[in-house]
Amino acid sequence: MTNKMWGGRFQSGPDAIMEEINASIGFDQRLFRQDIAGSKAHAAMLARQGIISKADAAQIRKGLDQVQAEIESGRFRFSRALEDIHLNVESRLKALIGPAAGRLHTARSRNDQVALDFRLYVRDTIDHFDGQLRDLQLALAEKAAAHAATVMPGFTHLQVAQPVTFGHHLLAYVEMLARDRARLTDARRRMNENPLGAAALAGTSFAIDRHMTAKALGFDRPTRNSLDTVADRDFVLETLSACAICATHLSRLAEEIVIWSTSQFCFVKLSDKFTTGSSIMPQKRNPDAAELVRAKPGRIIGALVALLTVMKGLPLTYSKDMQEDKEPAFDAFDSLSLAIAAMTGMVRDMVPDAREMRKAAATGFSTATDLADWLVQRLGMPFREAHHVTGRLVALAETTGVDLPDLPLKSMQSVEARITRDIYKVLGVENSVASRRSFGGTAPGNVRREARRWLNLLKA
Ligand code: ARG
Repeated sequence: MTNKMWGGRFQSGPDAIMEEINASIGFDQRLFRQDIAGSKAHAAMLARQGIISKADAAQIRKGLDQVQAEIESGRFRFSRALEDIHLNVESRLKALIGPAAGRLHTARSRNDQVALDFRLYVRDTIDHFDGQLRDLQLALAEKAAAHAATVMPGFTHLQVAQPVTFGHHLLAYVEMLARDRARLTDARRRMNENPLGAAALAGTSFAIDRHMTAKALGFDRPTRNSLDTVADRDFVLETLSACAICATHLSRLAEEIVIWSTSQFCFVKLSDKFTTGSSIMPQKRNPDAAELVRAKPGRIIGALVALLTVMKGLPLTYSKDMQEDKEPAFDAFDSLSLAIAAMTGMVRDMVPDAREMRKAAATGFSTATDLADWLVQRLGMPFREAHHVTGRLVALAETTGVDLPDLPLKSMQSVEARITRDIYKVLGVENSVASRRSFGGTAPGNVRREARRWLNLLKA
C-alpha cells in the first residue's frame, strides 16, 4: 500500500475495509478524460497568471498527455490505495515528470476538481443523448411518413376508441422525445458554469483567473459562489430527472411494441435482430429488447431517487456522501443510452401489418363518434342527444351481431327516423380518419405534413 498519511495507525483489517469503502477509483476512472482536460486548463491558467513557471506548465501538459495515452491504451495501472481518479492521475504524473507535478494542485482542491470532472462528464453525456434521441426521432418520423395513411385503432383504456393513423401514433413519440431533448438542453444550459477555482470551499488566495479556465473548458462563465459550487449536485439531479422522464416515454413505446407484436394483435413484425427465440418452444419470437427497454426506468428512476436521498439534509459544503453520486448516475446514463439505441433499431426494423391494423380499427364500433357527429351536423341534434341515439344504435348492432357499417338502414331508422343512406359514408374507418383534419388531428394529410416538417427539422 502506498504512503497514506494515516497508514501506520491502522491494523490491516480495518485498513483494508477503510480503503474499500473510501475508494472511488473502481467507478470514477471513467472521468479520466475530463480530469485531465481540467488539469491542463488549470495548469495553463496558473502559468499565465505567473503562479507556476511556463516550463513547469509545459512539463505538466506533456506528462498529462502521456497519462491519458496510457489510460486510453489500457496500460495504466489504477491503484485503489490512491482512492480516486484525481490522485491516480496526479501520482502517475509525478512518476513521469517529477517535482513539477506537485505544483499542479496549487489553488485547487479535489472538491472543485470532482465538481468540474462530473459536470464535464454530464455535459458530454447530454450531448451524446441529444444525438441519439435525434436519431430515434428520425427513425420514427421516417416510419410515420411511410404510414401517414395506415389506419389502426386508437385506444383509450386499451379499448378501441376511434380509428387513427399509425403515422400519427408514431409522431406522438417524436413530440415526447423533442420535449426530452429540450429538458436535457435546458439542464445543460443551467449547469454550464465553471466550478474550478472554488478550491476546497472558500476560494483561494492565489490570483487565479476563473474566466480563463471557463473559456478553455467551454463554460459560459464561472460559478458565483464557492460554497454552492463544491456542495451542489443539482446538475446531476436535473439530468437524471430528465433521463427518468425520457426512459418512461421509451418504456411506453416498448410496451406498445410488446403488445403489437403478440399473435393476438399482429400489428407489427419485429426483426430477427431485435428478438430472441425460446430454448424449448421453437415457434417463439420474443420481444426481449422491448421488454428490457420497458424495464429500464426501474434503474433510472432508482438512480434519481438514490441521489435525491443522498443529498437530502446534507450540510454545506462537501461531504464524502457526495461520492455516492457517481455509480447510480453512470448506471442510469449507460442504461438510457442502451435503451435509446435498442429502441432506434427496433423502430427502424419494425414492419407494420396494415391489413391487421385496419381490421382491428374497424372493430369495437370505433366509428360511433363519427355517427354521432353526423347526427349533429346533418340533423342539427344536440351532441348529448346524438350520443344517446348512437348508443342505442350500437346496442342494436351488438345484439344483432353486426358492425355499425353493416346495420341496415331500416334498423337505423327504427331508432331515429330522419337517418338517411348518407350516414354510411362516415362509418368507414378511412372516412373517419380523413375527417379528423383539425390542427393536430390524425388525418393522413396532417400526418404527411407533420412528418415532413419533422424530417426537415431533424435533418437540418
Ligand atoms: N472521490 C471524491 C468524490 O468523488 C473526490 C473528492 C474528494 N474530496 C475530499 N475532500 N475527500 O467525491
